[in-house]
Amino acid sequence: MYSEKVMDHFRNPRNVGRIENADGVGQVGNPICGDVMTIYLKIEDGIIKDAKFETFGCGAAIATSSIATELIKGKTLQEALKVTNRVVVEALDGLPKNKIHCSVLAEEAIKKAIEDYLQRKEASKNAE
Ligand code: FES
Ligand code: FES
Repeated sequence: MYSEKVMDHFRNPRNVGRIENADGVGQVGNPICGDVMTIYLKIEDGIIKDAKFETFGCGAAIATSSIATELIKGKTLQEALKVTNRVVVEALDGLPKNKIHCSVLAEEAIKKAIEDYLQRKEASKNAE
């Protein structure tokens, strides 16, 4: 039912944890089931230098967070915004249909973390 890649990222998730003093943090959740995903970004000169995640969710959500953080590392913000849930699912060689919504969390968390970064940047500019 799950691809080798999903099993690999579920068993050995990459980039688990949080980044202290992250430049952008995105948290998304599903209030119905209580699943929550948080993505932390370290950004320098418009490039994502580091990405970490904390996910309370199913195995598919953990695998998607893991591969999503791998996919966005080293990318520009514009490129990272193109990492949609479809890209994530393809990178995992597919997910069962009833697990697709879990990969949507990853896309939303990345977008929110980038928005958070841009808002903070804007706010610090205005404070000058
Ligand atoms: Fe909660 Fe899928 S059951 S996000
Ligand atoms: Fe809830 Fe996948 S994150 S079922």
